[in-house]
Amino acid sequence: MERTRRLRTNAAIRDMVRENHVRVEELIYPIFVIEGKNICHLVESMPGIYQYSIDRLKEELDRVITAGIKAVLLFGIPEHKDEVGSGAYDEHGIVQEAIRFIKANERYKNLIVIADVCLCEYTSHGHCGLIQNGVILNDETLPLLTKTAVSYARAGADIIAPSDMMDMRVAKIRQALDENGFIYIPIMAYSAKFASAFYGPFRDAAHSAPSFGDRKTYQMDSANGREAMREVEEDLLEGADLIIAKPAMAYMDIIRDISLQFNVPIVAYNVSGEYSMVKAAAEKGWIDEKKVVMEIMIGFKRAGAKMIITYHALEVAAWLKEREGDGYKIESII
Ligand code: PBG
Repeated sequence: MERTRRLRTNAAIRDMVRENHVRVEELIYPIFVIEGKNICHLVESMPGIYQYSIDRLKEELDRVITAGIKAVLLFGIPEHKDEVGSGAYDEHGIVQEAIRFIKANERYKNLIVIADVCLCEYTSHGHCGLIQNGVILNDETLPLLTKTAVSYARAGADIIAPSDMMDMRVAKIRQALDENGFIYIPIMAYSAKFASAFYGPFRDAAHSAPSFGDRKTYQMDSANGREAMREVEEDLLEGADLIIAKPAMAYMDIIRDISLQFNVPIVAYNVSGEYSMVKAAAEKGWIDEKKVVMEIMIGFKRAGAKMIITYHALEVAAWLKEREGDGYKIESII
């Protein structure tokens, strides 16, 4: 007769047999940088998340450093958009300048700066690629993505994260990075990226909603798990070093399947809509925010994620720190 309760009798034994942990080193915090001066603008649909102009970025970066977070993921919001997303690959674009600012500052320069590569924040139509007769062009978009990636690397980015979902972009970006001497810059590919309504609040934050149609001709269909494995396989063959699965909460099976089928660190992207739902319920007093967030985080780890991109990162890091003396135990939180 099994008595599985034997290993649950007290906190010490539960600590001993605990299979997964959340570590501050594995958290990645997204930051929105916006062109302009003296801006610290709340994203209404994402309580606690702000757009910062570079002259105000210090405030957020100081919080990141204090929290002990090691990596940030940058998204840019340019003042001007055009048909070809030229702000993305402008050597003095918003993300390029933000990276330079971080890398020029003694206090921040050791942060791992991950640059999201996509055109949607920079195109007037809000799509992730060039457009002709209503079609989002694949191969014609690739040179713009590689140009963007190389200019981020040149500005000092530590990791390049293509999120556009064009075919062959990882291979092209890898080749371009190598040719420009960035052979040690890893690619964190958004490989299993689904066309999802969970990105809604992000599009408010990044001003990147498509002006017509949707992203279903390039991002994946929510119903397809096996196809996600093809995407991962392809990106690994093309040279991806890290694989992002996104969204995360409604797609934990995808994280699990990738972890079983591939030997690569997986990054769970706990996206904007997932964050906003938790925040809204917490504001209403309907859930215990801290416990729910930590349960979600440990869920990603249990599913097989190595790292977690989350808007909750500052809070999670602070909660973990409270418990630092106990070696990042999370039982006291959950
Ligand atoms: C850019 C991009 C998006 C997200 C990350 N990179 C938006 C989209 O694809 O529409 C979503 C992130 C989030 O919802 O938190 N392509």
